[in-house]
Amino acid sequence: MRRWIGLFLSIVLIISLCACGKTDSFTKNNSNHKKTAIKEKENTTTENSHILIAYFTVPENVDTSGVDAVAGASIVVKENENIGNTEYIARIVKETIGGDLFRIETKDSYPLDHDILVDQAAEEQDQDLRPELSSHVENFKQYDTIILGFPNWWADLPMPMYSFLEEYDFDAKTIIPFVTHGGSGFSSILNTISKLQPNAYVSDNTFSLSREKVANGEAKAKEWAESLGLNVKPE
Ligand SMILES: Cc1cc2nc3c(=O)[nH]c(=O)nc-3n(C[C@H](O)[C@H](O)[C@H](O)COP(=O)(O)O)c2cc1C
Repeated sequence: MRRWIGLFLSIVLIISLCACGKTDSFTKNNSNHKKTAIKEKENTTTENSHILIAYFTVPENVDTSGVDAVAGASIVVKENENIGNTEYIARIVKETIGGDLFRIETKDSYPLDHDILVDQAAEEQDQDLRPELSSHVENFKQYDTIILGFPNWWADLPMPMYSFLEEYDFDAKTIIPFVTHGGSGFSSILNTISKLQPNAYVSDNTFSLSREKVANGEAKAKEWAESLGLNVKPE
């Protein structure tokens, strides 16, 4: 009997230790493993464009019934369309200055349920994974400037951003990063980008916007995009 009680207590202890691996407001349970596919979008490139606006986003499910503009966990709702925070900013940048918009997508789509997503992201980080990408830039050479947008995940880049940064040769190119986040800003992501691409020039003119401010952040995003002095939009 004593042996059984001892064994039971050890199992309880191991389970509690595992649950404490990653803790902050983004930690939740791991109960439901339903996966929902992210709507496929076509990435189109323009032959003579030299500016690429590449972004990663995961528009999480939130109950938005009856609302037309929400800055929620990770979603902007405008005219009944759900857009991830980072995608929303990327679109504004493209509308403001032109350039080619490119969504970084993974072969296996991410769960849109926040609780499951944060656990999966933590696991991928712990394992230093490089998720396989399903979207690829056709002629990366033609771009000299890459405006790079991503959410802050666990004070780091989402792992698909590592896959992206390791896939291409950024030597002598300019990377202009922007981040959407829940309070941490860039954390140490700018250093990470420089480490991954030591021969790229990582611009100081970056943009960081809290998710609470994204839905009403159009003016700020436009102002930043204009400040880059890169306008290639046809008149
Ligand atoms: C897996 C995960 C981890 C996150 N970790 C952080 C974090 O460490 N710090 C922070 O400020 N925000 C964190 N957030 C909040 C996101 O950065 C924020 O909601 C972002 O705007 C999401 O962008 P998206 O809608 O384009 O995916 C996290 C969100 C998720 C889903």
